Amino acid sequence: MTTINDLIKKMTLEEKAALCTGATPWTTTAIDRLGVPEMTFSDGPHGVRHVEDVNTLIATSLPATCFPTASCTASTWDVDLLREMGQALAEECIALGVDVLLGPGVNMKRTPLCGRNFEYFSEDPYLAGQLAASFIEGVQSKGVGTSLKHYAVNNQEYQRLTINAEVDERTLREIYLAAFETAVRKANPWTVMCAYNKVNGTYCSENHKLLTEILKDEWGFEGLVVSDWGAVHDRVASLKAGLDLEMPGPRPRRTQAVVESVRSGVLDEAVLDEAVRRILSIVFKAAETPKGGAFDIAAHHALARRIAAEGMVLLKNNGILPLKNPQHIAVIGRSAETPYFQGGGSSHINPTLVDSPFRELQKLAGDAELSYAEGYRADGGSDQALIEQAVEIARLADVALLYIALPESKESEGYDRADLDLTPQQVALIKAVTAVQPRTVVILNNGAPVVMGDWIDGAAAVLEAWMMGQAGGGAIADVLYGRVNPSGKLAETFPLRLADTPAYLNYPGGNGEVRYGEGLFIGYRYYDARQIPVQFPFGHGLSYTTFAYSNPKVSATTFKDVDGVSVSVDITNTGKVAGKEIVQVYVSDRKSGLVRPPKELKAFAKVSLEPGETKTVTLPLDFRAFAYYHPAYRQWITEDGEFDLLIGASSADIRCTLTVTLQSTLKLPCLLHRESTLRDWLEDPRGQSVLWSLFQQMSTQMQEAFGGEGTGMDMSGFLMDMPLLSLLEFQENMLPASPDEIVDGLLAQVYSKENG
Ligand code: BGC
Repeated sequence: MTTINDLIKKMTLEEKAALCTGATPWTTTAIDRLGVPEMTFSDGPHGVRHVEDVNTLIATSLPATCFPTASCTASTWDVDLLREMGQALAEECIALGVDVLLGPGVNMKRTPLCGRNFEYFSEDPYLAGQLAASFIEGVQSKGVGTSLKHYAVNNQEYQRLTINAEVDERTLREIYLAAFETAVRKANPWTVMCAYNKVNGTYCSENHKLLTEILKDEWGFEGLVVSDWGAVHDRVASLKAGLDLEMPGPRPRRTQAVVESVRSGVLDEAVLDEAVRRILSIVFKAAETPKGGAFDIAAHHALARRIAAEGMVLLKNNGILPLKNPQHIAVIGRSAETPYFQGGGSSHINPTLVDSPFRELQKLAGDAELSYAEGYRADGGSDQALIEQAVEIARLADVALLYIALPESKESEGYDRADLDLTPQQVALIKAVTAVQPRTVVILNNGAPVVMGDWIDGAAAVLEAWMMGQAGGGAIADVLYGRVNPSGKLAETFPLRLADTPAYLNYPGGNGEVRYGEGLFIGYRYYDARQIPVQFPFGHGLSYTTFAYSNPKVSATTFKDVDGVSVSVDITNTGKVAGKEIVQVYVSDRKSGLVRPPKELKAFAKVSLEPGETKTVTLPLDFRAFAYYHPAYRQWITEDGEFDLLIGASSADIRCTLTVTLQSTLKLPCLLHRESTLRDWLEDPRGQSVLWSLFQQMSTQMQEAFGGEGTGMDMSGFLMDMPLLSLLEFQENMLPASPDEIVDGLLAQVYSKENG
């Protein structure tokens, strides 16, 4: 059998270079003489956007199921459902002849303004990572590849092709890389797509640290790295950095540059061979799955409806929902007729079918009388007459259902939103309708948070229906009528105002650069730390039933970091209808060496319960649930001490708290150096042991030397944060040797202990 290595030996330099750049916008280069087939990519992520003529970059794609977008699927918090959706997507890829689906997208929702947030899962890296891993497992279980994107720190569309994201190492690791890391380690995506932007001064496509050191060497990624479409600037530099495949193609000049650089010795052929090896292994893997046939349009449409209903979030409900067979229903809003169910850009799907929210409602409404008013125009402009018509029908009805969708062009790849507002017409419409009809339900279609302060008090209920996919119209009806008990919860915070959001002062950046000044504190990490009230917190979502949490337990109250612990809690459905609860576990470190967010999501589970039923939910917490990334040690570390485990129904609704004590098993290297402060020395056990006797002598002398009287200061506090060297310099005449010699001597002792 010919191995990949044998094949590489047979390939000419030109063939190798050609393989590393696409042949067309969507396919890799085939090498017929050696039996290397082409491989076809298609977007992604929530449907298959396959253009029949692969030589065209932008064209109407073949019909495929448009599933709900990631904001909605994330709100299901249902890893099994994400897996199922992945399987269905793979079936469509197979039928349409697609080898690799370009998704999922796990960029963090740093700002709710990012135009592409609808394609991303969450503001929380743990949740995003788990969901992405399941999605990938689902697709790949059928022999179709995925492309985890956009690696990394692609969190805004504003200047996305060029912007330089300045992020500190710890924030990068804990927030912006963590979901990628989980998905890579857990699910082995066939490909990872590198982002357009720069990170800390270097384009992602030329970023050796991101592509090679972290992704391949540290996380063990075995697939190929593909560029985002057009993200390569210097093909040779990108190969050296670890970018295996450039897309789209053809790019003959790039291929030529690679050939010439190998010939001139600028590029080591071994680097090219490694890219070729990775590409060939995925190309052959893809070829093992025969393509063709058909997919089950009706079954996938039904699945899309189920996912949409699971992902919708009932934000507010005064009891009006589920509807109790009202006889006169005013249906207001053009999105009841013309559903808004996906966003703009490369993820835009040509759907197989589209459900009308109005007609689906009608099917469940029995003999109720439905009246309709458009309410607002497609272009977002103001129109008082439309408001008056709506008010008229609302006044006469038993209940008004107000379908509000953001104008279609507002949320898209390629640009960000300018604000978090509904249109002025929509706000005026909601206010006018709720003024005459208190029994009004607002149904929202949008891919990211909108602010509601102006109108929410008037609404009896608010259903966040997201970009709900092609079958979402039916899912809305299912939820309104209680055929589905809503169980979605927010995977992102809904703020009260744009000015409250974490990146507000550091977005969109300027001068080609955006500084991630808020650091670790994005999403609920920020609102918690700043104690800023929000409209709806992360993890929030209502049900038509209620759940009680009881009997919280932990497997051990004291445990070693490497063993982890597991938490269990009994959940009881205390209401009258069956329902699903999403149980969330947040970990809170009581005391840490470096600042940490007040709490972080580290486990969750979705549990389905009949009325009166109780189930015990068990959630494991591993080393990483307690660790943080320490930039000086350049690794994830744990520290001895107490942690609170907060078990809740949302980030703001904690039902039980358990406290555990962690014992770290890490032997961390000593970090003391010539500038270390007295505090650094005393807090390090090795430092303390070599310094102790000198410190005792010194402290008496220091008290005398610095007196402290009349200065109004706490001498010990003052001294603790002085470098040991400076401190000694103040007492130089009393010392047996020079301060430099003493500190160097102490350091030598510390490091000889460390190494011995
Ligand atoms: C997008 C990717 C997409 C690719 C191919 C790019 O502009 O950023 O997400 O997969 O185009 O359409």
